[in-house]
Amino acid sequence: MSKAEILMTAPMMPVAIEALDKAFTLHRLWEQDDRENFLREVGPRIRGVGTSTLFGRMDASLFDPLPHLEIVSSFGVGYDNVDVAEAARRGVIVTNTPDVLNDEVADLTIGLLLATLRKIPQADRYLREGRWLKGAFPLTPTLRGRKIGIVGLGRIGKAIAKRLEGFDVSIAYHGRTRQENVAYTYYPTLNGMAEACDVLIVITPGGAATKHLINADVLKALGPQGVLINVARGSVVDEQALIEALKSGTILTAGLDVYEDEPRVPQELIDMEHVVLLPHIASGSVHTRNAMAQLVADNLISWFDGKGPLTPVPETPYKKG
Ligand code: NAP
Ligand code: 8YV
Repeated sequence: MSKAEILMTAPMMPVAIEALDKAFTLHRLWEQDDRENFLREVGPRIRGVGTSTLFGRMDASLFDPLPHLEIVSSFGVGYDNVDVAEAARRGVIVTNTPDVLNDEVADLTIGLLLATLRKIPQADRYLREGRWLKGAFPLTPTLRGRKIGIVGLGRIGKAIAKRLEGFDVSIAYHGRTRQENVAYTYYPTLNGMAEACDVLIVITPGGAATKHLINADVLKALGPQGVLINVARGSVVDEQALIEALKSGTILTAGLDVYEDEPRVPQELIDMEHVVLLPHIASGSVHTRNAMAQLVADNLISWFDGKGPLTPVPETPYKKG
């Protein structure tokens, strides 16, 4: 039997490429000089796609040349890079890479929180610039005594909360629904939680439903000792409102891994010495990126083995038969 033909939109960890090359006839879109012509020729034979944010958004412009597409396997637990409504309309299954990155992202979030409060990158710069020779590094804010609100207590939010338990801080959460068997304080409104807390950790999905969830009002409620940590998506935070809040002292500081127009980061943020800025690296270890890439491949392999997708997103549920 001939192998199914798969399109990879962008480069991925070798573990995925090797597995897919073995199981399928793999076409590499990013290596094509004339993509339009290539898609015209190969597109009608394609039954599966492997994609990632490196490609950009997968929408109707790529669904159209692939009339026999059955499944899109996307790298990353967040899948705002795929138009899932369009996929659902066309009967195409979309899969993502949940769970395999929970611990890595949670570890990094704790690192970013501590780095932001205790000014770890600034202290490193201070030493390297020879400034320690002239005097001690200034004292910093602290995690001690803080109340932390997690915006989005999902798979990763829970892994963050579990780690925070070890830091002897008070933990609360906000989401659209109160969760059974969760001991942390629930706040039905985000403003209410921001009022009650002095750290917000944002770890919701991106997309239209959460766009600018963190706005000027929320930042005002967080207050002058407040710290914003965003490891979700840049779109969840109104970046301009955040810049204003940081400039005016409406909140104390921020630690960010994600931005509204990646990889472009507003110069105003870059110029602020008191914030910590990371280039979207929360899942970025070799170990975890390999696990995510393997799951991209495994979803496609399972589908074409007739066993269904391993991790379909809720918008395109798998119905057997
Ligand atoms: P998840 O298990 O689906 O959890 C998402 C949580 O967000 C849920 O608890 C949900 O609770 C809450 N939520 C959804 N919509 C909301 C809204 N409108 N208002 C308030 N809360 C809302 O997802 P996950 O696996 O933890 O991943 C979360 C996200 O983290 C991903 O989608 C991705 O965008 C981001 N992420 C970033 C990185 C990075 O590199 N920085 C790495 C991995 C993931 P309710 O349903 O009760 O509202
Ligand atoms: C990835 C992420 O780095 O999983 C996610 O949602 O944001 C990150 O783990 C990103 O998707 C890379 O494409």
